[in-house]
Amino acid sequence: MKTRTVVHMPSLVLSSCLVFSLACTVFAHQAPHKFLHCVQSHNSESISQVIYSKNNSSYLSNLLFSIQNIRFISPSMPKPAFIVIPFTESQIQAVVLCSKASGLQVRVRCGGHDYEGLSYSSHVPFVIIDLRNLSSIRIDAKKRVAWVEGGALLGNLSYQIAKRSGNLAYPNGLCPTVGVGGHFSGGGYGTLLRKYGLAADNVLDARIINANGEILDRKSMGEDLFWAIRGGGAASFGVVTAWKIRLVKVPDIVTVFTVNRTLEQNATDLVHRWQYVADKFDRDLFVRILVTRVNSSHHKEKTTVQAAFNSIFLGKIDRLLPLMQESFPELGLVQEDCKEKRWIEAVLYFSDLPDGSTLDDLTNRNPNPKTYYKAKSDFVQVPIPKHGLKGLWKFFDEDEAADAQLIFAPYGGRMSEIPESQIPFPHRAGNIYEIQHLAYWDNERNKQAERYINWLRRLYEYLTPFVSKNPRAAYLNYRDLDLGVNNDGNTSYKQASVWGTQYFKNNFKRLVEVKSKVDPSNFFRNEQSIPILST
Ligand SMILES: Cc1cc2nc3c(=O)[nH]c(=O)nc-3n(C[C@H](O)[C@H](O)[C@H](O)COP(=O)(O)OP(=O)(O)OC[C@H]3O[C@@H](n4cnc5c(N)ncnc54)[C@H](O)[C@@H]3O)c2cc1C
Ligand SMILES: *[C@@H]1O[C@H](CO)[C@@H](O)[C@H](O)[C@H]1NC(C)=O
Ligand SMILES: *[C@@H]1O[C@H](CO)[C@@H](O)[C@H](O)[C@H]1NC(C)=O
Ligand SMILES: *[C@@H]1O[C@H](CO)[C@@H](O)[C@H](O)[C@H]1NC(C)=O
Ligand SMILES: *[C@@H]1O[C@H](CO)[C@@H](O)[C@H](O)[C@H]1NC(C)=O
Ligand SMILES: *[C@@H]1O[C@H](CO)[C@@H](O)[C@H](O)[C@H]1NC(C)=O
Ligand SMILES: *[C@@H]1O[C@H](CO)[C@@H](O)[C@H](O)[C@H]1NC(C)=O
Ligand SMILES: *[C@@H]1O[C@H](CO)[C@@H](O)[C@H](O)[C@H]1NC(C)=O
Ligand SMILES: *[C@@H]1O[C@H](CO)[C@@H](O)[C@H](O)[C@H]1NC(C)=O
Repeated sequence: MKTRTVVHMPSLVLSSCLVFSLACTVFAHQAPHKFLHCVQSHNSESISQVIYSKNNSSYLSNLLFSIQNIRFISPSMPKPAFIVIPFTESQIQAVVLCSKASGLQVRVRCGGHDYEGLSYSSHVPFVIIDLRNLSSIRIDAKKRVAWVEGGALLGNLSYQIAKRSGNLAYPNGLCPTVGVGGHFSGGGYGTLLRKYGLAADNVLDARIINANGEILDRKSMGEDLFWAIRGGGAASFGVVTAWKIRLVKVPDIVTVFTVNRTLEQNATDLVHRWQYVADKFDRDLFVRILVTRVNSSHHKEKTTVQAAFNSIFLGKIDRLLPLMQESFPELGLVQEDCKEKRWIEAVLYFSDLPDGSTLDDLTNRNPNPKTYYKAKSDFVQVPIPKHGLKGLWKFFDEDEAADAQLIFAPYGGRMSEIPESQIPFPHRAGNIYEIQHLAYWDNERNKQAERYINWLRRLYEYLTPFVSKNPRAAYLNYRDLDLGVNNDGNTSYKQASVWGTQYFKNNFKRLVEVKSKVDPSNFFRNEQSIPILST
C-alpha cells in the first residue's frame, strides 16, 4: 500500500498545480507538516489516534471504506493528505482550524453516497473528515424526538427507533447505508413523504462547527443558517455533528406490495394512468414505479420494459383494497399481492439489501456490493403523454440499458402543503412526481463508462419537453455535475445560478446571502457548493 500511494503522489501535486500554478508545488509539500503540527498543538487529546496520512497502513482501506460509487475509485483519483476519523467535536474543531491555517480544503463524509464523490475527492490538497465514529443515536420515545450524530446512517436510525417503539419512524430515504449528514442536509425523502414530507422538514435543531471552529446550535447559529442546512447541503456551511429530529407516527401494521407489469401487460397505459392518481391518493398510500429492462416471457430472445409498482400503505389490507379499487382499479391489485408487516419489516422490504437479510442487517455499514453508476433527476408537472412514454421505453432497447433504472416517486399530500421557501428544498405543490434516471455498469464494462453516461445524457435530453422547465428542476441529493460546477473559489453568482436555481429555484439567492454572511472566506467549498457574493 505504501508503494501505491507513493506512486500516486505526483499526480496529486500535478493536478492541483494545473489549477494553482507553481506556488502550490511548494505549498502541497509543506501543508501536511504545518497541518500536523497545528492539530497537535490545538488538541493533544488523542488526535494522533484519529489522523491517517498516506504513511499509515490503513490509509487506503479507510479511504475506500464508504465510497459507494466505485466510478470514483481509480489510481488517478486525487487522494486526501489526511483522513481524520474523529470521535469528539473538539477533534473536528482542531481539524477545521488547522486545515484553514495550512491551506488545505476539507471534505466531510458521512455515508459516502454522494453521487459525484464530492465527500471524498478534490482536485486541490485536502483533508477528509469522516464522521463514521460519531454516529450514536439517542431516542426519547416519550417526547418523540431523537438526537442523531452527524455520522449515523439511515438503517441504524430506523433500527434504533424500532427498538424503542413500533409506532415511531422517521420520514427518510430507503437505502440503509445513506448517511444522515448528506441526506438530511440535502432534503431526504422516502416512503413517508406524502404523509410527513422530507427528512429535512422534520429537523428541530442541529449542532454545526463553522469555519471559525465554533460549535453552534439552532439558537446560536440563528434561523438563516438553520434554514440553509435543511436542504441547501451542509457541505457549504460547516460540519454538522448532530441533528435533533421529530419522530412521526406509524401504525402497528402496514401493507406492502409490488405489482410488476411489462409492456405486453399494459405497462404503458398503467404508467400513464398512474400519473393522474399517484399524487392524489390518500396520503397513507405511496406507490412508486421502478422501470427496468427484463427478458420477455412472450418472445424468447427478446427483452421488454417492466414497470414495478412498488408500494406501501400505512394501514391494513382490508382498507387498502377498496381504496385501490376506487383510485387505481386498472392495476388490478388483489389480496394475494399484499403483505402485512410491522413498519421496521417494511423498511427492510424497501431497503434493497440482499435476499435473506434480517433486521440486524439494517445496521451493517457495508452490506451491498458496490457499483458504478451515474444519475440525474427530473420533476414532472404535467403527465407525460403515451407517445412520450413509448419513446422513453425505446432507450431500453439499447445495450447500455441492460442494468439501467428509472424511479418514479410520487409527490402530493404533505409535500404540496409546505411552502417552497420553508426550507431550501423547493420542489413542492405542482409536482406530480420526481424521476431519478440511473445508468449502471460493471467492472468489465467500465472501460466503456462513457457509453453508459452518454446513454443517460441522451435520455435526459429526450425528456426535455416532458419535464419541468425554467428552470428544469433537479434534486440536490441526486447530485449531477453535468448541471454546472464552480471554479475553485472564484464563481460568480450568475454562473452558479445556472445549476443553483435548478436545485433551489428562488431559494438559491437566500442561500448565497446566508453563505456570504456565515463563511465569507468561502472555506467550505466544493465543485457545487453555494458561492459567496463577490464584493
Ligand atoms: C443507493 C442509494 C439510495 C439512495 N436512496 C435515497 C432515497 O431513498 N431518498 C433520498 O432522498 N436520497 C437517496 N439517496 C441519495 C442520498 O440522499 C444522497 O446521496 C445523500 O447526500 C447521501 O448522504 P451521505 O451522507 O451518505 O453522503 P456523503 O457522500 O457522505 O455526503 C454527501 C454530501 O453531504 C456532505 N456531508 C455529509 N455529511 C455531512 C455533515 N455531517 N456535515 C456537513 N456536510 C456533510 C458531504 O460533504 C457531501 O457534500 C440514495 C443514494 C444512494 C447511493
Ligand atoms: C499513523 O502513523 C503514525 C506513525 O507513522 C502514528 O504515529 C500514528 O498513530 C498513526 N495513526 C493512526 C491513526 O494509526
Ligand atoms: C511519511 O513518511 C515519510 C518517509 O518516512 C516522511 O518523510 C514524511 O514526512 C511522512 N509524512 C507524514 C505526513 O507523516
Ligand atoms: C472510534 O472511537 C473509539 C473511541 O470512542 C476508538 O477506540 C476507536 O478506535 C475509533 N474507531 C476508529 C475506526 O477510528
Ligand atoms: C447504531 O446506533 C447505536 C446507538 O447509538 C450505536 O451504539 C451503534 O454504534 C450504531 N451502529 C452503527 C453501525 O453505527
Ligand atoms: C418484480 O420485479 C422486481 C424487479 O424489478 C423483482 O425483484 C420482483 O421479484 C418482482 N416481483 C414479483 C412479485 O414478481
Ligand atoms: C390497459 O389499461 C387501460 C386503462 O388505462 C384499459 O382501458 C385497458 O382495458 C387495459 N388493457 C388490458 C389488456 O388490460
Ligand atoms: C435474460 O436472457 C439472457 C439471454 O437471452 C440471459 O443471459 C439473462 O440471464 C436473462 N436474464 C434474466 C434476469 O433472466
Ligand atoms: C477567476 O475567474 C476569472 C474568469 O472566469 C479568471 O479570469 C480568473 O483568472 C480567475 N481567478 C482565479 C484566481 O482563479
